[in-house]
Amino acid sequence: MFALARGLKPLLLALAALLCDAQQAAARPPSRRHAGRAASHRAELPAAPTHSTLCGVPPRTCRPGEGNLKGYEMWSQPYAHVDEKDFRATPPHVAEARSPHYAALVRLARGVERRGVVVVAAADFDYRELAENWYASARRLGMPALVLALDAEACEHFRARGLPAANLTTNLLEWHTTRLQRHIQRALMERLLAATALADAGMNVLLTDATAVFVADPLPFFHAAPAGVDLFVQRDSYPASAVRTLGTALSPAICYLRAGGAGLAGFMRRVFVRGMIEFYLRWTNAVGLLGLNGTRHPPPPCLSTSLTLPIGYAVPRSMYSFAHEKALVSRALIIESGPRLVGITKKANTERSNATTVIELSRHFKGCAADVKVCVRIGLLPYDKFPRHGVWRKLRSTALVYTGPSTKASRKRKFRGHRLRLDRYDEVDFDNMVASLKSEGLWMLNSTDDALL
Ligand SMILES: *[C@@H]1O[C@H](CO)[C@@H](O)[C@H](O)[C@H]1NC(C)=O
Ligand SMILES: *[C@@H]1O[C@H](CO)[C@@H](O)[C@H](O)[C@H]1NC(C)=O
Ligand SMILES: *[C@@H]1O[C@H](CO)[C@@H](O)[C@H](O)[C@H]1NC(C)=O
Ligand SMILES: *[C@@H]1O[C@H](CO)[C@@H](O)[C@H](O)[C@H]1NC(C)=O
Repeated sequence: MFALARGLKPLLLALAALLCDAQQAAARPPSRRHAGRAASHRAELPAAPTHSTLCGVPPRTCRPGEGNLKGYEMWSQPYAHVDEKDFRATPPHVAEARSPHYAALVRLARGVERRGVVVVAAADFDYRELAENWYASARRLGMPALVLALDAEACEHFRARGLPAANLTTNLLEWHTTRLQRHIQRALMERLLAATALADAGMNVLLTDATAVFVADPLPFFHAAPAGVDLFVQRDSYPASAVRTLGTALSPAICYLRAGGAGLAGFMRRVFVRGMIEFYLRWTNAVGLLGLNGTRHPPPPCLSTSLTLPIGYAVPRSMYSFAHEKALVSRALIIESGPRLVGITKKANTERSNATTVIELSRHFKGCAADVKVCVRIGLLPYDKFPRHGVWRKLRSTALVYTGPSTKASRKRKFRGHRLRLDRYDEVDFDNMVASLKSEGLWMLNSTDDALL
């Protein structure tokens, strides 16, 4: 049932991808191109994006996003561009349980976990209220949650409010030495490394965006989910090349990392490497897409597909789905009888598919024994339970967690343009997010200082 068409093609594609990586690295344009302004103007720009947690005179605590550099436009950035070549091209620390970087996190998680599962989201001080809202939603459902605090102020804030928070400040600061020069890039990397270290420590880890809100407990779904899958990921619509190749893209806004999954550690290591290579894109980076990257049109001559995967992995060897019958009423049924296995084609594997689809990625390079064909199995989560797009009102009855479908408030909002060069978010982004959650009853906090929100 699992054996779909094989052959030489994946091997050739993977080889081509490797060669292509090397060629692209050699042909990389100078970073000046990405400054968005002429060299003569660059001297006038601030050397780095500003960020403060104290605003106004006399100083008071900034609203979320208020203390960050303003002036982002579509193709320019309001600070001088640094030349990446001086920075290290590899992650500054490893995502392993034995690493001293994650020792305190692992200790904290062991105290929080239940049935071997821990639920995490990462947040800096700007995200403090959203993360508290996330935590409140998890605790209401009795989920074992903790926060990955990305700066000292956030850590102090969470602990003062009684939230279990791991202090990852030092870890985040270490990314200053790498090519990931934007705060957003570092945060995306660090949260995924931290989750991988927890999985390495023997825990199953549910990682979501801090803007997520749980509306039902998703853990029974994961306990009952097909064995042999290393990593479950939400379906998405970007990049388009992933949609063309797989039928859907992958969103790390929701990932579930299975402890001890044979292929997980190796795959994640390569995702991090890919993230260090694809650091040019200012809006996100490849790690934000779990290593999947869509190259520009037309695809480079060395690739016959426009999708590139984490280095060393070939396009899927096989793909199969687990359909959840009457999922809404039958969470218990799924646990008892297990989901039904059905075949799936790329065409049926859309962002809006309500099956759990497993894609098997094989590796053909050293480190992978010759007889090992499948190195990682990634489960794409059913859309009705884990929707990223669509209309929340229509999805509310089946969804387990909110992560972005349009709300009453977000439908009225004016599009602000793609701010590709953003270092951190502005207060308007946080205001919009909070208003969006409030408009659908997804705001769990009853802060007395509503003006702050
Ligand atoms: C978190 O770590 C940072 C950097 O090491 C440190 O300055 C800060 O005091 C720590 N915060 C807490 C609450 O431990
Ligand atoms: C993928 O990589 C290419 C080449 O480095 C880059 O131009 C492109 O913006 C990246 N795309 C995504 C979606 O990350
Ligand atoms: C999946 O379920 C959602 C919500 O019930 C529905 O809107 C959507 O059409 C379904 N998708 C497919 C492919 O049937
Ligand atoms: C709201 O605030 C009141 C008073 O501080 C408190 O008793 C109540 O538990 C809070 N509710 C929530 C949902 O946090």
